[in-house]
Amino acid sequence: MRPGNRARAYAALGAAIVALTLVPGGARRALAEYGDVVINNYSDAAGVRPAVFPHWFHRVRFRCKVCHSDLGFKFKAGGNEINMLKIIDGQFCGACHNGNIAWSVENCDLCHSGKPGTPTQVHESTIQQLAAPAETPAAAKK
Ligand code: HEC
Ligand code: HEC
Ligand code: HEC
Repeated sequence: MRPGNRARAYAALGAAIVALTLVPGGARRALAEYGDVVINNYSDAAGVRPAVFPHWFHRVRFRCKVCHSDLGFKFKAGGNEINMLKIIDGQFCGACHNGNIAWSVENCDLCHSGKPGTPTQVHESTIQQLAAPAETPAAAKK
């Protein structure tokens, strides 16, 4: 991608994220379904890779309400003060990643797959590769 195109793609992405944040149920949300959320409030400091939450992957399986109402996830990247005690206690990711609804918590690397040093953000998985190694399925599974 030429630098100019890349800058335009990033600008478009930024606009999409702003639109999504302001109007969670709004028409622009389709774009952001493909964004991965990187969560790195504590990971770097604790010496683990940042957590990557593939929003689109979950969104096609569950209604918004399941997570943002029933499980109490706030609509803000990094806005939930998630830690492993809470997850093991069945909160947040742990409501499903318990070996029952989804694979369990001992699969550290499946969640902690971000590049070290990546700040908390919503990221467009088809524009930038976040996960390492590259086995995390990107747009392919859509
Ligand atoms: C289902 C996804 C998931 C799995 C599996 C998972 N984590 Fe986490 N973990 C998270 C999220 C999300 C956070 C919050 C990240 C942040 O804000 O930096 C987190 C935070 C952490 C933190 C920093 C906060 C704290 O609790 O100390 C450590 C350390 C950590 N995880 C280690 C692990 C280890 C070790 C494993 C495997 C035994 C593991 N995680 C498995 C999602 C997961
Ligand atoms: C499986 C759970 C799950 C489902 C289903 C889900 N989300 Fe999310 N959503 C999350 C998580 C986790 C985050 C990141 C929160 C964090 O980083 O602490 C998030 C973040 C967001 C954000 C904030 C992004 C930003 O810019 O900070 C918005 C807006 C959002 N979701 C909207 C939706 C909408 C609209 C739907 C349904 C179409 C939906 N979500 C479905 C779990 C889910
Ligand atoms: C409402 C239930 C639910 C919640 C909450 C949830 N997950 Fe998941 N997650 C699933 C299911 C179901 C799968 C698919 C499991 C499978 O394929 O066996 C999955 C798969 C994943 C995958 C693998 C995606 C892929 O491409 O195969 C990752 C990574 C992941 N979750 C991370 C997280 C993190 C991080 C959180 C918390 C921020 C979280 N999940 C919260 C249900 C959930």
